[in-house]
Amino acid sequence: MSVAPPDPGPLDVLVLGSGVAGLSAAVRLAAPLTPAGGSVDDGDGLRVGVLTKAELSQSATRWAQGGVAAVLGGDEDSTDLHLADTLAAGAGLCDADAVRVLVDEGPTRVHELIAMGAVFDRQPGGALALAREGGHSTARVVHAGGAATGAEVERALVDATRASAAAVLEEWFALDLLVEGGRCRGVVALSTDGRLVEVRATHTVLATGGAGQVFSVTTNPAEATGDGLAMVLRAGVAVADVEFMQFHPTALHHPAMPRPLLSEALRGHGALLRDARGDRFVDELAPRDVVSRAMAERMHDQGVDSLWLDATLLDSFDARFPTISASLAAIGLDPSTDWLPIAPAAHYLSGGVLTDLWGATALPGLWAAGEVACTGVHGANRLASNSLLEGMVFGARLAEKILDGDDGPTATGVLAPLLEGRTEAVAPGSTHRTDAAAAPPDDGAASWPDVAKTRDRLQRAMTDGAGVVRNADSLARAGRTVATVAAAVGAGPPVDRAHGELANLVTAARSILESATLRAETRGAHARSDFPLVSDAWRCRIVHGAGPAAVLLRTAPRPDVPGAGAHGSDGSTT
Ligand code: SIN
Repeated sequence: MSVAPPDPGPLDVLVLGSGVAGLSAAVRLAAPLTPAGGSVDDGDGLRVGVLTKAELSQSATRWAQGGVAAVLGGDEDSTDLHLADTLAAGAGLCDADAVRVLVDEGPTRVHELIAMGAVFDRQPGGALALAREGGHSTARVVHAGGAATGAEVERALVDATRASAAAVLEEWFALDLLVEGGRCRGVVALSTDGRLVEVRATHTVLATGGAGQVFSVTTNPAEATGDGLAMVLRAGVAVADVEFMQFHPTALHHPAMPRPLLSEALRGHGALLRDARGDRFVDELAPRDVVSRAMAERMHDQGVDSLWLDATLLDSFDARFPTISASLAAIGLDPSTDWLPIAPAAHYLSGGVLTDLWGATALPGLWAAGEVACTGVHGANRLASNSLLEGMVFGARLAEKILDGDDGPTATGVLAPLLEGRTEAVAPGSTHRTDAAAAPPDDGAASWPDVAKTRDRLQRAMTDGAGVVRNADSLARAGRTVATVAAAVGAGPPVDRAHGELANLVTAARSILESATLRAETRGAHARSDFPLVSDAWRCRIVHGAGPAAVLLRTAPRPDVPGAGAHGSDGSTT
């Protein structure tokens, strides 16, 4: 017997998505935390609903192996160092004020999570065990279960959410934002039983995660289809930095999708990268963009589609990384004797919906946190293990702002230049802008028989044309296929989640292609073989949704901030 889904009724806050960012907001809004980090149940909370297209516990957070980067270790580390490492990884496009918020508030959020029940790995003496990862100048990353950090964070937050939220709408699919009178009032969603339902709320928190499924080779779960990004683009809300899809260097080269990840923490513990001849070729602890690009170049030069991670010298692999060890054993690999085949995979979208320093977007009533957001903390390339941290910090900040009765947006962080009108038209002569984004369909079929095949075609085209290293021709080629897919998807409203996801993938792919085509330089996670150098002219954000065409937001150079320069293609700072 099918049970009718609950009608949540009007909500104070509707949270879309159930990863670390969304649930960090939800638990605080539904039952504000005490100063010690525990929740109070004295009726002060708001009526919060969490809407997710899968089960509450099914989110990209659950898959996150590494860790949470936060200054918890005492004298040898400082928030200034964490800030400098983050800015250096971000290749000149971080917002220094947002990074300051991230590194200063991170440690408190980790302690609150511990108070909420999350269990992190500890040394024999009881202190938190801190690991080093790529781009970090010291060991400052906490893990849980070796490389099962996200699963533990998610467990703690799901338990707290189930205990406090007024409504949990699982297997509901948000189709579009409800925008009335210049304000977001909730969403139109498909309920579990396929009805179109308006879910109304005073505040809507977008925490829908990333868009790794735009690519055929990704570490992201099947749900990461760029839904939030597509919804805000359809609503004309500003989105930036989407050309900076970060490719994780050490995804296991194996047919499984999502690709099993071999955590950066392995390299932090001494695992080595080896090319097809067995030679080392890059600093294993360089930021991720540098390592992925070096791998792509080596694979191209050696005519291979994978390289090697050599973890044979690591002590106690099984005890330290039980989940990775189990997934390797399942496919017959023993890290104590076998080199592990690896290739880069789409992993994390550094850009997203522009927010102020409190998580407010340009549309009143709409907030965003986590991978879907562009707070400016990642710039052109996210520092390892800053993503769970960002979700915790900005999810909590927007909750505080809503509880204070504020509505945003404020002219702070990356939203300031937009709200203050400091935008520039897209560079004159950028006619190639239209090549990828509005390319005519290729000469393939006008439509495909089913959604899965169509999705697959789009994903392959994006991996082929907009992968680790792109150029104008490859982007235009991908653009033609995406245009063909768009024609096949049609303009009508999606009839179910699969069609909705495909339409969202098309929208996300088009904005990625448009920005990647425009950005005529190599910076961070965006590498162009036809423009191999970083260019000061492109020290800016490419913004969609703020008007009929893309605009540029200049990011002021911050020579006063250590590490604020951009990375050259060799990883040096210019
Ligand atoms: C990893 O453990 O390598 C992934 C962590 C991250 O994406 O920051």
